[in-house]
Amino acid sequence: MRRAIQDCRVLLTGASSGIGAALTRQLATRGARLLVTARRTERLAKLASEFPNQVEFIAGDITCGAHRAALVERVRREWGALDLLINNAGVGAMGRFDDADESRLRRIFEVNVFAPLELTRATHSLLSSGRTPAVMAISSVLAHRAVPLKSEYCATKFALHGFYDSLRAEWAKEGISIVLVSPSTTDSDFFDAAIEDSTGREWKGRRPMTPDYVARRAIVAWQRDQHELILPLSGKLLVTIDRWFPALADRLIARFG
Ligand SMILES: NC(=O)c1ccc[n+]([C@@H]2O[C@H](COP(=O)([O-])OP(=O)(O)OC[C@H]3O[C@@H](n4cnc5c(N)ncnc54)[C@H](OP(=O)(O)O)[C@@H]3O)[C@@H](O)[C@H]2O)c1
Repeated sequence: MRRAIQDCRVLLTGASSGIGAALTRQLATRGARLLVTARRTERLAKLASEFPNQVEFIAGDITCGAHRAALVERVRREWGALDLLINNAGVGAMGRFDDADESRLRRIFEVNVFAPLELTRATHSLLSSGRTPAVMAISSVLAHRAVPLKSEYCATKFALHGFYDSLRAEWAKEGISIVLVSPSTTDSDFFDAAIEDSTGREWKGRRPMTPDYVARRAIVAWQRDQHELILPLSGKLLVTIDRWFPALADRLIARFG
């Protein structure tokens, strides 16, 4: 399979920066029509102004049920069907689990898990009427191998994988695909936008990927109907070591994680 981008109808969350903004630009440049969302209105307005008649936006908090309903209603009214849902919006939280409180755990699950899952449910009938329909979820390499000081974040991404693996089988008969994209460190606003960072550490590392690179590879994975894309090679290596030599992975993570 090689999905076409021209005229593809896309609903995308988290478009105001990073990977979501890059996905929006690349898909729109190649002829897709997008309804995008995030909370920062000015950034969305600027993005939409680059692609008149192709990119529309509704600003709002994705954890709010009424906002999600407004997105779904706009898709229903304007297109009557959906070809691609991209659940990209996400937040991090860095610090020891025992130093944090319940509100951090609940907030991160609201954004990273409950909101995308409910949006997936709400778009099911629209996707059923779409052309080669798919859901893409921007997950993380940390959905395979958890690291210290990001316990809640890792838990949200593990949850996404469990959910979407199950849904992939449930929706296969209807022809709706699930594409998981699992990048490691990417140079975006992600670390500055974290709910909390009590570590004082520099998280970006020396060679983060660019959002453009992640977006480009994610689009190809969706076009080819790949189940999952893990980026970059070092991320794949970590996942492989963890699968075959879990004790070694534990030692490496304890030392360098
Ligand atoms: N950066 C990395 O190293 C990395 C690595 C692996 C996976 N990821 C994943 O990649 C995805 C995109 O992150 P990014 O790196 O591009 O970070 P980013 O630049 O911080 O983008 C996050 C996006 O999510 C939106 N968002 C956050 N909370 C929201 C809320 N409550 N309601 C609506 N929108 C919300 C933000 O928009 P507003 O603030 O305007 O609402 C922003 O557009 C996330 O799911 C993240 O977990 C990132």
